[in-house]
Amino acid sequence: MQLPLKNATFETDIEPDRRETEQPPERAIGRVIACDGSRATILSAVSSGGWRPMDIWAIGRMVSINLGDSRIVALVYKVHAVATDWSEAGENPIHVDVEFLGEVQESQDGRLRFQSGITSYPPVGAIAHRIRTGDLALVHDLGDRAGVEIGHITQDASIPATVSVQDMLSRHFALVGTTGVGKSSAVALLLRRAVAVRPRLRVLILDPHNEYASAFPDLALTIDGDALDLPFWMFRQEELADVVFRGRPPLDDEPDILREVIAAARGRYRVPTGPELARDLGSSVLKRPLDMGATKPGQEPPPQASSIDMAVPYRLKDAFAVIDELIGLHEQRWPRAALRSLKVRLESLHADPRYRFMFGRANMYETIAPIISQIFRIPMHGRPIAAFQLGGLPGEVVNAVASVLSRLAFDLAMASQGACEILVLCEEAHRYVPSDAALGFAPTRQAIARIAKEGRKYGSYLGVVTQRPGELDPTILSQCSTIFAMRLANERDQQIIRSAISDASASTISFLSSIGNREAIAFGEGVATTMRMRFADIPRHELPAMGVARQGEDGTLREPTLDDMMRRMRA
Ligand SMILES: Nc1ncnc2c1ncn2[C@@H]1O[C@H](COP(=O)(O)OP(=O)(O)OP(=O)(O)O)[C@@H](O)[C@H]1O
Ligand SMILES: [Mg+2]
Repeated sequence: MQLPLKNATFETDIEPDRRETEQPPERAIGRVIACDGSRATILSAVSSGGWRPMDIWAIGRMVSINLGDSRIVALVYKVHAVATDWSEAGENPIHVDVEFLGEVQESQDGRLRFQSGITSYPPVGAIAHRIRTGDLALVHDLGDRAGVEIGHITQDASIPATVSVQDMLSRHFALVGTTGVGKSSAVALLLRRAVAVRPRLRVLILDPHNEYASAFPDLALTIDGDALDLPFWMFRQEELADVVFRGRPPLDDEPDILREVIAAARGRYRVPTGPELARDLGSSVLKRPLDMGATKPGQEPPPQASSIDMAVPYRLKDAFAVIDELIGLHEQRWPRAALRSLKVRLESLHADPRYRFMFGRANMYETIAPIISQIFRIPMHGRPIAAFQLGGLPGEVVNAVASVLSRLAFDLAMASQGACEILVLCEEAHRYVPSDAALGFAPTRQAIARIAKEGRKYGSYLGVVTQRPGELDPTILSQCSTIFAMRLANERDQQIIRSAISDASASTISFLSSIGNREAIAFGEGVATTMRMRFADIPRHELPAMGVARQGEDGTLREPTLDDMMRRMRA
C-alpha cells in the first residue's frame, strides 16, 4: 500500500512546527481521507522509531487542516491502526478521527483570528499537521475580553489558560470532579484571581469541611460557630421551623402555631433602651457595634435598610409569654400538648450551647446591619472573602443556615444597587440542592435557585462545587454557564456534563474519565473555547486544608482548644 505521505511534496504556506529536531516533518503530516458534517478521518503513519508521533495524534490534541487561505482546527478523539499487524521496521498507517472546532483565518486588518465553526470543509487529500503554537494560542485567546491566568493549556505548557472573570461570575459557574482531583484548590485559585480584579466583589464560601481558612490567610475572615451570630429572628418562619422541628416533619398544627407565636412576639417587640440591654445581656453587648449603617467619607455606602431590613427582631421571652397565654386560654385554639412541646423545644434550643449562634446573643442586635456587615464584608477591611465554617454547626441547622445566607446575599446585592457584588460559593452543593426533590430543604433550594435565575441582574452570583453532578439539581447546573469539569469516574456524572456542553465540542468531554489531577476541561461563557487545561501550582501555604485554626479579623491564627474539639464532636 502506497502511503500518501511518503515523500509527499505539496504547495503550502504552512510549515509544520519543528520543535523536536529529530522529528522528520513529513511524519507530522496526514491527509484527510474522509469527512462528514463535523468530523474527518486523517490517514497518517507512525513507526516504532525514537520520536513520539503520538505527540501530534494523541487523543485530546488539536491539529490543523490546511485549506490554503485558512486552517481548520480539529480535535483528535480516536486513533487506530489500519492494519492488524505491526511493522517494527517500517511505517504503520493509522486513522485519526478528528472533530472540527473552528477556523483560523486572516482578517482584513491582517491579523489572524480564530472562530468557532467552519465555513468550508476540507477536501479529501487536504493536509493535516501539528498545530502551530501561535494558532493554539489564538484558539484560547479571549480576544477583547479581559482575562486572568489560572494555569496552562495541557497540550502546550507555554500557552496560558485564561478565563474572563466577568463572564464566569455573572453567568455563574460550576466545578465538578471526583474526590481528590483538586476542586477545592482550583476554587481557591479562581477566587483569589477573581477578587484581585473585581474590587467590589465579596465572596461567601459555604465551607462544610472548614478548609478554606488556610487558603486565604490574607484575604478571608473565617466565621465559625464561635464568631458567628445569626439570630433566630433573621430566620424565616419555614427556616426556623426546620431548626425547631429538627428535620422531622412537623405535626399538623405546629407550623401554624409557630407562625402565630412569632407574629405575636414580633408585635410586642420594642427597641430596648441602652440600660435595659446592658442589664439583660451584661457588658458583652458593648463589645459589638449595634449600628454599622453610618458611612464615613470614602467608605462604601451602606446597603439600603428598607429592602434588607425586613427581619424585625423579636424576643424569645415574648414568644414564651405568648405560648403561655395560648395555653391559658379558656377556649383552646391549639392543642395544649402541641403548645407545650413547642415551648420545650424552644427552651432547649435556647439552652443548648451548640445553638448559641442563634439564640445566645440574638437580642444584642436591633437590626441585621452588624451581622451582614461581618458576613458580607461591608466595609471589607481588606478581606473580601468570608469562609463560613458549616462544619462546626449542628448538622440539622446547616440547611437552614445556608438558606438564610443565600437569601441575604441576593437581597443585599440587590439593595446595594451595584455597590457590591456577592458570590456565594457552595461547596458540596449537592447537599443543599439535590436532584431528588424529596431530599434537601425547599427554602435553601429556592434561595439558591433565585441567585441562579435572577442574580446576574443584581450582582449576586453562584459558584457550585460538587463531586456528584448527577446528584445536583439539574436546574441549578443548567444555570451555570461556565463549567470546569475535572476527572469524573461515574458514568452518570459524565453523562450530565456531556449533556451540558454544546455539540461542537462534545468529543472533548469523552476524556473526562481519564484526565489527570488538577486538570480540567473548561467550557462555556467564561472561556474562549472548550479547553483542556491544568490549574496553576498553588503554594503550600495557600492550599485549602482541613483543621487549620480559625482566622480572626486581624489575621491571627488560633489553634483549636480541647473545648473547640469537644464542641465540634457534639455538633
Ligand atoms: N493547583 C494545585 N497546586 C498545588 N497542589 C494541588 C493543586 N490542586 C490540588 N493539589 C493537591 O491535591 C490535593 C487535593 O486537592 P483538593 O483538596 O483541592 O481536592 P478536592 O477535589 O477538593 O478533594 P475533595 O473531593 O476531597 O474535596 C491538595 O491537598 C493538594 O496537595
Ligand atoms: Mg474539596
